Amino acid sequence: MKDLYTLPKAELHLHIEGTLEPELAFELAARNGVELPYASVEELRRQYDFEDLSSFLELYYATMAVLHEASDFEALTRAYLNRAAGQGLRHVDVFFDPQAHTARGVPLEAVVDGIRAGLDAARAQHGITSTLLLCFLRDRPAAEALAMFDGLGDQLARIDGIGLDSAEVGHPPALFEEVYARARDAGLHVVAHAGEEAGPEYVREALDVLRVERVDHGIQCLQDPRLVERLVAERVPLTVCPQSNVRLRVVRTLAEHPVLEMLERGLVVTVNSDDPAYFGGYVGDAFQGLREALGLTDEQAAALARNAVDASFAGAPRKREMH
Ligand code: ADE
Ligand code: ZN
Repeated sequence: MKDLYTLPKAELHLHIEGTLEPELAFELAARNGVELPYASVEELRRQYDFEDLSSFLELYYATMAVLHEASDFEALTRAYLNRAAGQGLRHVDVFFDPQAHTARGVPLEAVVDGIRAGLDAARAQHGITSTLLLCFLRDRPAAEALAMFDGLGDQLARIDGIGLDSAEVGHPPALFEEVYARARDAGLHVVAHAGEEAGPEYVREALDVLRVERVDHGIQCLQDPRLVERLVAERVPLTVCPQSNVRLRVVRTLAEHPVLEMLERGLVVTVNSDDPAYFGGYVGDAFQGLREALGLTDEQAAALARNAVDASFAGAPRKREMH
C-alpha cells in the first residue's frame, strides 16, 4: 500500500485561521498583549469538544483575536505550510475571513500582506503553489459583504476568488447574490459552503443563484437523489472534510462517513482538512484517517488526489505538472 503522507496532494478547503495551533495562539497572545481566557495550551485544547458548527465558530473567532500584525498572519501561514509540506501538499486554495479581522480594527492590507508573504515563502521553500480566496461571513449582513468587496481597492488584485462561510442554517446563499455577481464580473473564482449543516436546497441555491464553481462540504446533497444526479452530470466538485464533519457532529463517526460512497456514485469528491488545528489533523492525516476507518484503497486515494488537482484553481500548466 502507498504511503498516503507522501502522495502528492492539493487541498481546496482550508481556512488559514483554522490552522492556528494553541502553542502559536499563546505565543501571539503574549506578543500582542491579548488575554486568552485559558490558563494553558492544554486547557485551550480541552475546549475542542464541539457540539456543532456554532459552538466551534465561537471558539474559532475568539482565538483568532490574537492575530494583529501582518507578521502574525505570516507566522500562521508559514506554520501551516511547513506542516502540510511534510504531508505531501503541492497546491492549496486558501480561505481567509477578513471581516473577522477588520471588525477588530486590523487593516485588511495587513492581513493580506501577512498571508501572501507566508504563501510566497512556501513556494520558494517547498514548491507549494497557492491561491487566496476571501470568504464572506454569511451570518453578517450581505450589505457588509458588498461594502467590503467594493472597498477592496488595491487588495482586489491580490485575491483569486471569494467564498462564503460561518454559521450556515438561516443564512442561505441567495442573500449574497449581488456580491457574487460582482465578483464573477471582476473575473474572480467563486465557491461557497453549502450543505454542511443545512439541506440540499442550500446547495441548489449556491449553484443556481451564486453560480459557484465548487461546493464546499456539500454532503447534505445525499438527502436528494436528483441533486446528486445533477452534481454528477455537471461534474461539480465537492470539497468534503470528513474529520470536520465528525468533530462538528454532522456525521457520527469516520467509519460512517459517506465520502467513499460519494466517490463511487460518481461525484467529484475531494478530501480536505477545513480547520486542521481544531479537528485533529492536516490533509495527510485526513487521507490516513479514511484508510484506517473506511479501508481507503490506493486507487481511491489516487482518484481523490486527482480530483483535487483538476478542481483546484492552479493554472493549467501547474495542473499538468502535478498530474
Ligand atoms: N469557518 C471555518 N470553518 C468553517 C466551517 N467548517 N463551516 C463554516 N464556516 C467555517
Ligand atoms: Zn470550511
